[in-house]
Amino acid sequence: MYHTFPQYQESAAYIRGRIGSFTPQVAMILGSGLGFLGDVVEDPICVSYRDIPHFKASTAPGHKGQLVFGTLRGKRVAVMQGRMHHYEGYSYEEVGYAVRVLRLLGCETLVVTNAAGCVNTQWKAGDLMLITDQIKIFMESPLRGENIPEFGPRFPDASHLYTPALQELARGAARDLGIPLREGVYMYFPGPQYETPAEVRFARTAGADAVGMSTAPEVIVAGHCGMQVLGFTLCSNMAAGILDQPLSEQEVLDAAAACKDKFSRLVLECLARL
Ligand code: HPA
Repeated sequence: MYHTFPQYQESAAYIRGRIGSFTPQVAMILGSGLGFLGDVVEDPICVSYRDIPHFKASTAPGHKGQLVFGTLRGKRVAVMQGRMHHYEGYSYEEVGYAVRVLRLLGCETLVVTNAAGCVNTQWKAGDLMLITDQIKIFMESPLRGENIPEFGPRFPDASHLYTPALQELARGAARDLGIPLREGVYMYFPGPQYETPAEVRFARTAGADAVGMSTAPEVIVAGHCGMQVLGFTLCSNMAAGILDQPLSEQEVLDAAAACKDKFSRLVLECLARL
């Protein structure tokens, strides 16, 4: 029921057949609103998830479901236009599948972005957050099952899942661009329902600044296979119970559209500095 190492190799081999000698350095998983960065990749080669053996489709709104290989700000990138979420019905192992394939293809760095609910009441919707750490205590680990030692150890250290040097790079990029950047902890909730106000209070007490339904599983997988990780959250809405209004997907998409410019400038500047 879990994928085997040869299956990961088969996926990578198929993609290699499509991209030839191109070797991606940076994998990018772009959440709501930033998927368009895949459209500005230079000399793109697009590979649909549907065509890759053992890959899953991505069904979330606004997610295209393809890998785009090419150059962005001078870096050879593999952009995932659309990610897999547990709430779509995928196991955590499936959610992290692509990360391992991209590692096999040569990616040493993972850049992740997401939209999330803002738990920190000092902040406001529209703020950008550099992810310094994460909490994923709900449900099982994406590393559950027999360990694949070709990727990493059975009990991987998770002290620095978000690479400190890349955090420093992002701080410098934000400063130089004049883009305010918060820093904090992302807490994973499985969704697809938004959190209750009580869950948001729980998250705040636990030390979270933002809550969302993605990213954490992929980052655990990336850490396991030795990738450096840089992560950003767009605080698209105040989390449940903070304002006297219901949460809606439209609010998230509107915020993503409104912040698209500053968010993409920041991510691209970080890419250039990698
Ligand atoms: N909670 C969980 N996920 C989200 C939210 C939220 O408030 N906003 C955008 N993604």
